[in-house]
Amino acid sequence: MPDLKLTNEMLESMVDTNDEWIVKRTGIRERRIAQNTATWELALEAGRRALEDAALDASELDLIIVGTATPDFFTPSVSCMVQGKLGASKAMAFDLSAACSGFVYSVDVADSFIRAGKAKTVLVICAETLSRIIDYTDRSTCVIFGDGAAAAVFQASEQEGVLTTYMRANGTLGECLKAQCLPVEDPLAQGPRAVCDHRFLKMAGSDVFRFTASAVPEAIDAVLHQANMTADQIDWFVLHQANVRILQMVTTRYGLDPKKVYVNIDRYGNTSGVSVALCLDEMRKNGQLKAGQHIVISGFGGGLTYGAALIRI
Ligand code: ACO
Repeated sequence: MPDLKLTNEMLESMVDTNDEWIVKRTGIRERRIAQNTATWELALEAGRRALEDAALDASELDLIIVGTATPDFFTPSVSCMVQGKLGASKAMAFDLSAACSGFVYSVDVADSFIRAGKAKTVLVICAETLSRIIDYTDRSTCVIFGDGAAAAVFQASEQEGVLTTYMRANGTLGECLKAQCLPVEDPLAQGPRAVCDHRFLKMAGSDVFRFTASAVPEAIDAVLHQANMTADQIDWFVLHQANVRILQMVTTRYGLDPKKVYVNIDRYGNTSGVSVALCLDEMRKNGQLKAGQHIVISGFGGGLTYGAALIRI
């Protein structure tokens, strides 16, 4: 993760906001900001560490997926840059654009490639430099988002790891979370080409919040039903860290012990697709993940996209 911590106190001197509002409405106390660092650089570092952890060489990778909403270029993709720098000579590589659902969508794709016999070893990285599309004069978004990257390796195995998945999108609500790449224009028209003035993320926060209130339980219910399991049989719920109130809503709805719902939004803010992978990485390093545990992961956000997966570690 980037070193710079942007605290609520620092934001108080930048926009009309205050620590109390941010903590009460979101649960966020600080977020990390990547200074002069590209998304591919964050992705590469996370990918390297995941390979090191898994004691694998890049040459063993068949596929690299990078979930990102903030790629550095239209082409090459972040994943191809990472593939080249890692020297993953036999890997296919592509980016996956599903914003805050980036990790859960990528898990589903990685699992599908492995089940189809098209890949044995897959590196999934989520990386974001959201600060590049955040307007630090807009208090409705600048207090929410942070930068970072996290990665995981998936391998073919006799023992099933990804037990079931449920992925959906609702494109009719896409306008609720929007950052434009290029303006729509007539390229043959006379005169200078327009400069895009919509680079900053606009979010209809309460509309997205309302969407999550139905989408997240829909996805969680689906994976529990598909696996013929109940919420009390699940060891951990690791959800996209968008807002602590969404995590509390899920805790209440399923009557969960709050300790089963992992929270680190206070330290990293909303890191889009990175957040679920980041939680799992922290949990593993803290010794909280044990073999045989069942985990529900869920992502939701830009697109709008949403989904959940039930995994056994
Ligand atoms: N500081 C102080 N006041 C603020 C701030 C701020 N930073 N931001 C907004 N306010 C004010 C508003 O102006 C408004 O004032 P008003 O009542 O005088 O008009 C008031 O606070 C309430 O604003 P709301 O937007 O209604 O606040 P809400 O309780 O909905 O919280 C939030 C906003 C935190 C953004 C919430 O809606 C949310 O978390 N939404 C979900 C976001 C999400 O899940 N995104 C998905 C992932 S992102 C991705 O995919 C990239």
